[in-house]
Amino acid sequence: MQHLLSMNELTKQEIEHLMETARRIESGKRMLEVPCTFASNIFLEPSTRTKNSFYIAEKRLGMDVLDLNGADSSVTKGETLEDTLKTLQAIGVQLAVVRQPEVGVLQQAAKGLSLSIINAGDGTGEHPTQSLLDLYTISKEHPSFEGLRVTIAGDIKHSRVARSNACALKKLGAKVSFVAPVPWQDESISTDYITMDEACAQSDVVMLLRIQHERHVISGQQGDYLQEFGLTKEREQRMKDDAIILHPAPVNRGIEIESSLVECRKSRIFDQMANGVVMRMAIIQTLLKGEIANEYKNYQQ
Ligand code: CP
Repeated sequence: MQHLLSMNELTKQEIEHLMETARRIESGKRMLEVPCTFASNIFLEPSTRTKNSFYIAEKRLGMDVLDLNGADSSVTKGETLEDTLKTLQAIGVQLAVVRQPEVGVLQQAAKGLSLSIINAGDGTGEHPTQSLLDLYTISKEHPSFEGLRVTIAGDIKHSRVARSNACALKKLGAKVSFVAPVPWQDESISTDYITMDEACAQSDVVMLLRIQHERHVISGQQGDYLQEFGLTKEREQRMKDDAIILHPAPVNRGIEIESSLVECRKSRIFDQMANGVVMRMAIIQTLLKGEIANEYKNYQQ
């Protein structure tokens, strides 16, 4: 693995390896530093969790971190993302973490580059590091994904999290169902759409999604959305006792989830955020293992 651009590219074994690495980091058994290694976090779309948890993960690994926001970068002067990445590589950056709005542009830009690239969200495309931290969160309660019933509910069509998780969960053997209003269903992800009542009764994991207002104009009354497609208290009470609630966040309280449920006993929403730091450390270590090996040699000499 040189880059992490899509969950499609990872095998079941590679996903399991990343979860095991995260577990070892969290338990204090594996913490390999990569000092004198530069990371550049390029965020051309807003982010709270992904950007800051990458920063913390990189600093915990001993890396030097350069932040590049949309307004500060020469992308605003017409430079292509590909040329920005070539520039960073030329000045000695080994890892670029990139969030930007265009699907497929990173796959094109990554060709021929020697630095590692992590997709931190590409428009409606994919969000592989969110998927990996979601899987890690689930694995803490359900170590086997085989036959696990997971529902992903919300704005499926415009959600990169849904796309990455649908692919990864199926690869691991989970049975994945979807809940969405008809205009936001996406047959390229699944044709298996059920009601929110069915989902809550049968699922081990209910993963909620925010309505992606920035990617489309909402139709219909948002007030009805919670009752028809969201997680209400009544539905939460009908969930299995050991079922868990996930949400990649940001959460729109009162729209896809009743506000009091965000921190209820079944919710793992803030655990997901904490797990994000550990999983991102595991991803960086895995991608930069050449640099880590060299640093290890330097320590031993
Ligand atoms: N889940 C997620 O990607 O959150 P941010 O947009 O805040 O990074």
